[in-house]
Amino acid sequence: MGKKYIIALDQGTTSSRTVLFDDTGKICGISQKETEQIYPKHGWVEQNAVEIYQSQLETLHNVIRENNVDAADILGIGITNQRETTVLWNKNTGEPVYNAIVWQDVRTSKLCKELKADATLNAYVRDNTGLVIDSYFSATKIKWILDNVPKAKALNEKGSLLFGTVDTWLLWNLTKGKVHATDYSNASRTMIYNIKDLEWDKNMLDRLGIPESMLPEVKPSCFHFGNFTFDDHVIPLSGMAGDQQAALFGQACFKKGETKNTYGTGCFLLMNTGKKPKFSANGLLTTIAWGLDGEVQYALEGSVLIAGAAIQWLRDGLQLIDHAKDSEYFAEQVIGDSNVYVVPAFAGLGAPYWDMDARGSIFGLTRDTGKNHLIKATLESLAYRSKDLILAMEEDSGVKLAALKVDGGACANNYLMQFQAGILGTRVERAEIIESTALGAAYLAGIGVGLWKKEDILKNRKIQKEFHPVMEEAKRDKLYATWKKAVSRSMDWED
Ligand code: G3P
Repeated sequence: MGKKYIIALDQGTTSSRTVLFDDTGKICGISQKETEQIYPKHGWVEQNAVEIYQSQLETLHNVIRENNVDAADILGIGITNQRETTVLWNKNTGEPVYNAIVWQDVRTSKLCKELKADATLNAYVRDNTGLVIDSYFSATKIKWILDNVPKAKALNEKGSLLFGTVDTWLLWNLTKGKVHATDYSNASRTMIYNIKDLEWDKNMLDRLGIPESMLPEVKPSCFHFGNFTFDDHVIPLSGMAGDQQAALFGQACFKKGETKNTYGTGCFLLMNTGKKPKFSANGLLTTIAWGLDGEVQYALEGSVLIAGAAIQWLRDGLQLIDHAKDSEYFAEQVIGDSNVYVVPAFAGLGAPYWDMDARGSIFGLTRDTGKNHLIKATLESLAYRSKDLILAMEEDSGVKLAALKVDGGACANNYLMQFQAGILGTRVERAEIIESTALGAAYLAGIGVGLWKKEDILKNRKIQKEFHPVMEEAKRDKLYATWKKAVSRSMDWED
């Protein structure tokens, strides 16, 4: 029998990627296309939903053609995606009624503040959706479109409007409008899904005026969602999960307490908490990790909203570097501590601070501060923010992290990983395949078509490099205390 393949569609915030895996879980090909970010106003972040789909489709076609794969040998396709990003479209024509409102968009923060003033609602949201009231999640983005886009209002009245996060939007298009569905992990990021009852939450829908008829069906993460036809071959769409939950799966964090950190556009720390939802006392989110084998698995999550995006800012905004990877070299040019702190609160601060009004700030500038110091401080900010989350998670779970499993683009940066180990005082393990998100989606799709079992995934997981902490405790404490001071001064900046 010839080689068989599984494909992962990984639709991220800044690019669409398709990754081709062989039947042993090895990467055989990648195709990637950047997507345009649209910033119509201060704090608004949008994308063209049609471009999201088209770019994803293009990379899917490219990966098949460039690697001379016969479509008959593709056993299944998994979808993973930037979460929370909201698309509303006409169910008859497939035309989006508005640009996709991206998860980083803070246009609804005023509405969120009003909702937050209701203490009962705050508790309800936490206890039933696992989230905190914040503009990050889909719910208030849907409401904004319903309230502000006349076309959406009209279609809604006729029952012709559909909502989806990016997974649902891709699935609907790949199946030519036949399937309107999502999976538990994506639904749990909308703030209108009840993660205990596993159904759309009627109270939240009433409160926000969102009709249930526009919502997708919610399915397990390993499921035959529908089919994609390529060269007359029918390929099952057999796996789906939000990108962070997919990465948790790809890192084989199947047991309670196992934790991974993905350094992507944002930085997302997730801990598997088992079959029951665990609620946080430290501002972390409770989310569904995946639905598999007839049950759901829950996770605690902390997010750094701007991580790799801060390195992009160094490259595109400040034009201090030509390529993101050069940040490692420049950071290493600074001898000793730079005493410069960058707080990358460009989209407010997520857990454990949850301050939508925090803004990016730089502290500790002196006359000798140069480009290298800013680059180093920006890299270090990712490690400090991850430490904020890990401390919260350790407190919530009562477990001291033995090692941190890392993945995602920026974890290739050795300076950042060594600093991360130092500032945590914990070993950092870099996975051999740092494409854990795509890997997780491929594994879900492969399990969905009966190619793999969880045991195969455990056997497959290899560590590429370990980083051991060498920083002295006194220094660690001093640096982290100064970081906390910088964070406190960045908060409550904008109304
Ligand atoms: O919650 C947002 C997250 O899913 C986006 O991930 O990889 O595009 O930063 P990424």
